[in-house]
Formats: sequence, structure tokens, C-alpha cells
Amino acid sequence: MLHVFATCAFIGLLAARGAAGEAPDPASYTGPVERAFTIHCADCHGVMPASLSGAARATAEKKRKRAHRKFGMDEGFPFTSKWQLPKLLAEIRGEVAEEDMPPASYMKKKGVTMTEAERQAIIDWTQTQ
Ligand code: HEC
Repeated sequence: MLHVFATCAFIGLLAARGAAGEAPDPASYTGPVERAFTIHCADCHGVMPASLSGAARATAEKKRKRAHRKFGMDEGFPFTSKWQLPKLLAEIRGEVAEEDMPPASYMKKKGVTMTEAERQAIIDWTQTQ
């Protein structure tokens, strides 16, 4: 039982550190989180893959300037943004949870869907930074 409390206290401490706005942890970004961002966000917010073609490519080309004004992931995490990290993470969490991003019309053009697991990976990650 004591062990459970100790673990909770430790997690609480980590959360408090994140909330205090200390340096982000690039290591936590690797793996499923980075994959979800790369597959579903990079076309507009990051480096467009050379393989992107057709209507999806045309749309991404049109949207990427405005998308980059919100945040850029060209060099991985930490992302570039006009917002401070806590605000940016909250925006990302909101957009992904509400299914506003990636835009549904865009996914249709591209012929992909974002899985629940991918959404959850991003949402959980924003809460641990
Ligand atoms: C088809 C291109 C496209 C894709 C793919 C895309 N976005 Fe965006 N995103 C945009 C554009 C364009 C804007 C700016 C909208 C505006 O200026 O109103 C934006 C804005 C945002 C914002 C800021 C919201 C706001 O209120 O201004 C966040 C956060 C965001 N995107 C997160 C994501 C995440 C996370 C993903 C992947 C899961 C993603 N986006 C995928 C085009 C895209």
C-alpha cells in the first residue's frame, strides 16, 4: 500500500514539474507519439513527405503556411510555436480530443483515418509534459 502512495506521489511530482514549465522531455516524444504526429500532422505542420500526392498534396500545400503559424514540427519536439509550451500542449490536446485535427475533409482526401489509439497516445502525452 505504501508503495502505491509513493508511486502516486512521484507521478504527482512529475506532473507538478511539467506544470511549472520546466524543460520539456524530448525522449517521451519518441515511439507511438512521434509516429502519430508524423503520420497525421506533419503534412501541414511539419515536413511534407515526398510520397504525398494528388488532392491531399494540393491541400497540404495550401494549408501548411497557416498551420505553421500555429506550430511547426519540422525539427521534431520541442515544436516551434508562438505559444508557450503549456498553452500549445493544451491547444493540441483540445484539437485532437474534439477531432478537429487532423481535418476530417483532409483525411478523406488522403484516404486515411486516425485510430483511437493514436488520438489517445497524443492526448496522454500532452498531459505528461
Ligand atoms: C490538412 C492540413 C493539416 C493537418 C493534417 C493538421 N493540421 Fe492542424 N492546422 C491546420 C491549419 C491550416 C491550422 C490553422 C487554422 C487557422 O488558422 O484557423 C491548424 C491549426 C492547428 C492548431 C491550432 C488551433 C487553433 O485554434 O488555431 C492545432 C493545435 C493543430 N492544428 C493541431 C494539429 C494536430 C495535433 C494535427 C495532427 C493530429 C494537425 N493539426 C493536423 C492544418 C492541418
